[in-house]
Amino acid sequence: MQIPAWQFLACIFFAAVWHDMASLLRRSTAGLGRYTNMKASLPPFFSSLNPPKSSPFSTTLTANKMSPHSTSPSTSTSADTFLSALATRRSNYALTSTSPIPDSRIQHIINQSILHAPSAFNSQSTRIVLLLKNEHQKLWDITRDVLKEVVPADQFPKTEAKIASFRAAYGTVLFYTDHATLRIYQEKFALYADRFPTWGTESTAMHQLAVWTALNLEGLGANLQHYNPLVDERVAKEWGVSKDWELMSMLVFGAPVAEPGVRTYEGVESRVRVFGA
Ligand SMILES: Cc1cc2nc3c(=O)[nH]c(=O)nc-3n(C[C@H](O)[C@H](O)[C@H](O)COP(=O)(O)O)c2cc1C
Repeated sequence: MQIPAWQFLACIFFAAVWHDMASLLRRSTAGLGRYTNMKASLPPFFSSLNPPKSSPFSTTLTANKMSPHSTSPSTSTSADTFLSALATRRSNYALTSTSPIPDSRIQHIINQSILHAPSAFNSQSTRIVLLLKNEHQKLWDITRDVLKEVVPADQFPKTEAKIASFRAAYGTVLFYTDHATLRIYQEKFALYADRFPTWGTESTAMHQLAVWTALNLEGLGANLQHYNPLVDERVAKEWGVSKDWELMSMLVFGAPVAEPGVRTYEGVESRVRVFGA
């Protein structure tokens, strides 16, 4: 059956009008609630995240504004949405061995973070090892054993209790810098060779922030630990980690059972300089 050309054109016209109306509606309902708004307006990775169970730092979102560089209203997001997510991230040490989200969701967060976090010259030198449940507990048993060899005996009970609190959580994300990758870029961009180790560290920090924030948004509490390089060798042996991978940090996470502690904030006036505003 053939459709007359005028009917075909009319269909396209109504589809375009409907799309514009839907976009307007979506924007006018933005900003109604912190997390509903956050979910609705975030890009695909964030938009399917669950709201956090609670946060002492809720800041009301202002209405979602269109980015001047946006190419499509349906994928637009505002800085306020992102900044609210940033304010949600906190250190939480009271964690349990459960997770409010499935392991596949945690893996999704890791995968999206490692895909989208930036790196110098797009070198993509960050590596991640995700340890869950028994594997996570094994990590903290190793850490306890390593520390027992170096911490004075009279101080060890305190250390042991602290390590036990990390072990009691659900999982740990290990962040690494891959020096094999950095070496390739050091040769390729010899002028900046001495900068790459620092850039590698900076890049892992960006990954850490992304994963930490996303886990918090999903209702998981987390805290960042640094028992590297003490544990590096034992960890590498246990999980077959390449010798080129340098452990940078350990992000412990689990379902939180208490609110994070109070955080103090230095005034931005002494920390930010603005010229030309
Ligand atoms: C580079 C860096 C290193 C950190 N190292 C540790 C650490 O070894 N142990 C720890 O408990 N927290 C560590 N933290 C967490 C900070 O103490 C924490 O982020 C800070 O006090 C602000 O609190 P908040 O995370 O609740 O906002 C580290 C944070 C950063 C950014």
